[in-house]
This record gives sequence, C-alpha cells and structure tokens, in this order.
Amino acid sequence: MAKKEDTFKKVISHAKEYGYIFGSSEIYDGLSAVYDYGQNGAELKKNIREYWWKSMVQMHENIVGLDASIFMHPTTWKASGHVDAFNDPLIDNKDSKKRYRADVLIEDHAEKILQKANKEIAKAKKRFGDDFDEEQFKTTNPRVVKYLAENKAILARMGSSLEKEDLEDVKALIEELGIGCPESGSKNWTDVRQFNLMFGTKLGASADSAMDLYLRPETAQGIFVNFLNVQKTGRMKLPFGIAQTGKAFRNEIVARQFIFRMREFEQMEMQFFVRPGEDQKYYEYWKETRLKWHMSLGLGEENYRFHDHDKLAHYANAAADIEFNFPFGFKELEGIHSRTDFDLKAHEEFSGKKLQYFDHELNENYVPYVVETSVGLDRMFLAVFSKSLKEETLEDGSSRTVLKLPAVLAPTKAAILPLVKKDGLPELAREIIGELKWNFNVAYDEKDAVGRRYRRQDANGTPFCITVDHQSLEDKTVTIRDRDTMEQERVAITDLERILEEKTSFKSWLTKLK
Ligand code: GAP
Repeated sequence: MAKKEDTFKKVISHAKEYGYIFGSSEIYDGLSAVYDYGQNGAELKKNIREYWWKSMVQMHENIVGLDASIFMHPTTWKASGHVDAFNDPLIDNKDSKKRYRADVLIEDHAEKILQKANKEIAKAKKRFGDDFDEEQFKTTNPRVVKYLAENKAILARMGSSLEKEDLEDVKALIEELGIGCPESGSKNWTDVRQFNLMFGTKLGASADSAMDLYLRPETAQGIFVNFLNVQKTGRMKLPFGIAQTGKAFRNEIVARQFIFRMREFEQMEMQFFVRPGEDQKYYEYWKETRLKWHMSLGLGEENYRFHDHDKLAHYANAAADIEFNFPFGFKELEGIHSRTDFDLKAHEEFSGKKLQYFDHELNENYVPYVVETSVGLDRMFLAVFSKSLKEETLEDGSSRTVLKLPAVLAPTKAAILPLVKKDGLPELAREIIGELKWNFNVAYDEKDAVGRRYRRQDANGTPFCITVDHQSLEDKTVTIRDRDTMEQERVAITDLERILEEKTSFKSWLTKLK
C-alpha cells in the first residue's frame, strides 16, 4: 500500500482513538461524509475558529463580525446564482457504478503530470545544489517544459469547456487523456451531467403553505444581504470587512477523504468591501495576509502554495486557492475571490432595494466591490491535525506517537501529574489546577507510571506536562516538560501561569503576524 494512504489511515484512526472525530450516528452505521467532533475535537475546532476570529475581527479596526441564520429567503439563492449555476459536472463509470466529479478526475490527472515535473526539478536541485536556477531549468529542460505545458493545456481546456457549459468536450477530454475509474480502472464512462449541490427543505407546518427553502451552501450570502444594516448601524467607512463563521451544506457528489469534503461543514468567511478599482490591490493584499496567517501556525512553509484559478466561479473576476499538502497531496484549503459587485448588484435587482454606499470623499453613491476570503474550518482542522501527527524514534531506540499541535490550538494546554498518588502530592496538584483553570484548559492525570502518562499526553497533543514531586512540597517548584523537545525544567509554581501564557496564548502567537 502507498505510504500516503498509510499516513492518512493513521490520521483517521488517531482522530477517533483520542476523541477528536467520530463518524456521525455510528451506532446506526454512520452517515456518509458527516462527522461528529469529540471531546478533544470540539476544543481544537473552537480554538481554530477563535484564532481566525481574533486575527480577522479583533485585530482589524475595520472588520466586524456577524452571525446570520442558516435559513435565508429562497430568492437569495436565485440572486446569488446558486439555483442556476451551483452545479458540479458529474460522470458515472458504467462498470464500477462509481460516481465522480468530472473536473476532479481531470485535475487529478493534471496534478500527476505536474508532480512528474516537480520530481525532475527536485532531482536537479539536489544535483546542482546552490548553483541551481529553478526558473531557468523550468524553461529549458525539455522534459520539464513538456510536462508543464501539458498540465497547463489540460487545465485551460477544461476551464474553457466548463465555462462554455460544453460537457461533451469535458467527456471527450477524459477519454482523450485515457482517464480510468480510480477504483476499477475501467474507461467505460457515461455522459457528463450537471448536478445542483444545494439541499432543499421546507419551512412551515402545513403542506399547502410550506415554503421551499435551501440550507445555505455558503455563509457569504448572509453577509451580502446584511451589508447595509452593518454599514449604517456600525457607521463603517470603505474599505471595511464583515466576518462570519458558521455551518454550510452541500450535497457533494463525491464526499470522501474524511473531513476534507463533507456534506455539512463549517466556513470562516470574510467579505471585504472596497471602492471599485481598488479590488485588485486588496485581492493581492488578502492573498498575502491569509498565507501569512496560515504560516504563523508553524506547520512548514513548504506545505502551502497558491493555485490561481483557470476556471472562475460565476461571481469572480480573479480567484486563487491556498493549497495545503494534505496526506493525499496538495489540495484547496482556502479560497480568495475577487467577487466584483456581482452579489450586491444581484441582490439589488432581485429585492428591488438599493445596496449602495455613499462615498463622502468622492461625493457619489456606488455599489462596492468585494474581495472574499473563505476557509473551511474542518479543512483547517484536517490540515493542522494531519501535519501534527508524528511517529518518532527516540535516542534509546523506542518510539513514540506525538501530536505536535500548535500550542495555541491544543485542546489541553497542560496536564498536571502527581508523581505518586500519596504523600500530599495529589492535593498539591489539585491546588495548581485550581489556579490555572481560570485561564487555561488543564487536565489532571494520576494513573500509571509517569513515563506512560507523558506518552499518553504526547499522543493527545498536550504541549506541557507539569509534574508534582516530593521536592515540590518542600520548595514549591515543579518540573515542566515540553512535549516536542521532551526537555524538563524545574520552575516555581508561581511562574506557571506566566510560562503557559507566553507559550500558549493567542496574544503570543498572533503578535508574530505583525
Ligand atoms: N463563499 C465562497 C465559497 O464558498 P468555496 O471555494 O466553494 O467558496 C470555500 O468554499 C472553502 O470552504 C473551501 O476552500 C473549503 O475550505 C471549504 N469547503 C468547501 N466545500 C467543502 C466541503 N464539502 N467540505 C469541507 N469544506 C468545504
């Protein structure tokens, strides 16, 4: 079995074993692509959400929050284009009976070609060392030039066929490239069809008066329809942003890869309203700013890359993904979209209400342009969790499983461990917890030998273990062990709060972003 698949399986089983993620309604055999977050998962998810919220809302004077409802008037989705255009092109394999997104099949094929180019580049880099000129190599090495051109041509043709709604050509492309069913290898495909991703439901008790609704497929529209409410009541001046986190629902055709593609998921979105003409400037600004935010978590700069869209969504004039190196390869983590005035204008048209801003400096009314940043909370969770899970061989030859979560996001910041269950050590440990718990999520653990307890906390992702021993009774000091370096230091009990603050607080991590 491929190594990547092994790693991914380990991620999924570790998430379950340590109370991070369970399949939904498991006792009834679960529900496909729906998941529940356990005792640790709920904390990690909350911390990621808070890390985003604080950096976007609290740290920006000109960004405010919103909590719009999931149900919205059905005309919202006509105006936004989701009724007509929120479709995925699907294709079935006649032999394996498996259904796929046609664009994903093609993108995966193109990615394999790109990987061939990247392999050649990596080999040459190794061979030539410091003298290596990557840009020159990319334009002169015949094999790399061929791979890169092939990759580009495939994506460009797919983008243009999808834009023209030419589904026959999408199928023709799959056949020309010789793409087989990833499960069976069969190349016996149906035609490509469009499939709307929105979930429908009904509002109202009686069958006659019930109104057809959709569960929102993105949180963004709640922001657009409230644009003037927030701008006027908050006396906001352009440029300004409205941020929101919340559930979104999509009837994904191919829901796989664990919490990467779910049918019920959470988004963290921000719409930044700007003067027309300033959209490109802010699009570039938010691309850089969001990438920096991701990198602040220390998961490795090499695990991120931008992917500029060839195929633009119906509302965008420019769009890029921040892709992350998930256990199954580089895939979209966040989207940054320059949405023009598409949404506000469409809501003006469909509602008959003006959604304009009076610009005092220019002395004119206009519909602002919008730059959006949109990241999936569950995808962030998968990125953080999968990159943090490590198997390490220690100096003595033994091995340990350690979840090196960024300390600011870790569900439990410290475990307090009495060395033995007697002599007043548990009581002192409880006293320490009594002080720390006001500001930090801390745990108490007295079961098993202390070495085993360290391993348990390592696997759980707890960044610090504080051990209370006999010396603690005499001089009010404890040892604090760092999960990642495994080094221990003796410190005064009265210093613990300051140390944990320095190592785990939002302030100490977010100041790195400045
Ligand atoms: N408002 C723009 C928008 O919704 P999108 O690219 O469709 O754009 C934004 O989605 C982000 O939401 C994605 O980058 C991804 O992180 C997350 N996302 C989208 N569909 C998802 C799904 N089915 N499961 C989990 N996360 C998803």
